[in-house]
Amino acid sequence: MTQYAPRKVIYDTDPGVDDAMALYFALAHPGIDVVGVTTTFGNVSVEQAACNALYLTAIANRDITVTRGVQSPWVKPGEPPPDFIHGADGLGNLPSRELTSNQLDPRASAQFIVDMARAYPDEITLVAVGPLGNLSLALKLEPQLPVLLREVIIMGGTIDEPGNVSPVAEANIWNDPHAADHVFTASWKLTMVGLDVTHRVVTELALFKKIADHHRHVATDTLHHAVAFYSTFYSGLHKHLALGPGCFAHDLLAFIYLVSPDLFQTESGCIRVATEGIAQGQTMLNRRAYIDYPQFGWGRHLPATRVCMQVDAGACLDLFEKTLMSDWLTA
Ligand code: BDR
Ligand code: CA
Repeated sequence: MTQYAPRKVIYDTDPGVDDAMALYFALAHPGIDVVGVTTTFGNVSVEQAACNALYLTAIANRDITVTRGVQSPWVKPGEPPPDFIHGADGLGNLPSRELTSNQLDPRASAQFIVDMARAYPDEITLVAVGPLGNLSLALKLEPQLPVLLREVIIMGGTIDEPGNVSPVAEANIWNDPHAADHVFTASWKLTMVGLDVTHRVVTELALFKKIADHHRHVATDTLHHAVAFYSTFYSGLHKHLALGPGCFAHDLLAFIYLVSPDLFQTESGCIRVATEGIAQGQTMLNRRAYIDYPQFGWGRHLPATRVCMQVDAGACLDLFEKTLMSDWLTA
């Protein structure tokens, strides 16, 4: 049987409860090698995001490079962090934290992305699940980044599904729409995992209890605590999530796409982002690339993004459970 080397991944994140779920899936999955965690503002301040990334990796017994990145959007004023969704600390207001000793790398997140892409050309996959300021800044620092990176997968945006910060906008894109438009119009191999699929996959709190009971470990206890807080928010918002109770595992789906793209159905086309006004943060997909529209900004030369539109939710949940129930914390 052919053995494939695990995929080298930089995880760009604003942890964040679903960010933590996704991180632990990545650490647990044998096909993924997390070579760095770059943090950004978003669900929390960038200081808190970096602190959470250090904490989550340390309690899982991993010494992975963690960097601090952009602290505010490129152009628009910053929005207050959504403490009612993720808790003021981003992890559901943990009652206490263990003492840990992992230290922050002094480089800015964008510089770390550039350094790694240059050191490992065509090997690094960038999985970005927060506002896209780090990636946009890295692209400004190194215009060759789209050919140096193997692939970029983002959790963000929405095409047909209603938004979660406005009727048309998803939170990560809305938090820095100028950075997002910069990223969508660069020539990477880019996949968007947005609300069209993340709203189809509901993770129940009971599953996180099962995982915590199985491992009896601070990492999975922390995740269970955080998801309980996050599920309370989502259960109050959507009736079908109150039944479990449960929540959307948005960021997790970006990693599931990485290891099992066959679980998704995709469309391809140019995406632009509305940067201002009432539609700010809207991700617009051109489904008629053969038309020369009179509106400026939709030229035929623009690169295409692969967009996830449908997902096998049951298979995603099975993969998540199997991966988190494996022996990843003892390895
Ligand atoms: C996205 O916004 C954040 O709150 C989540 O972590 C996820 O990345 C979902 O819209
Ligand atoms: Ca996130």
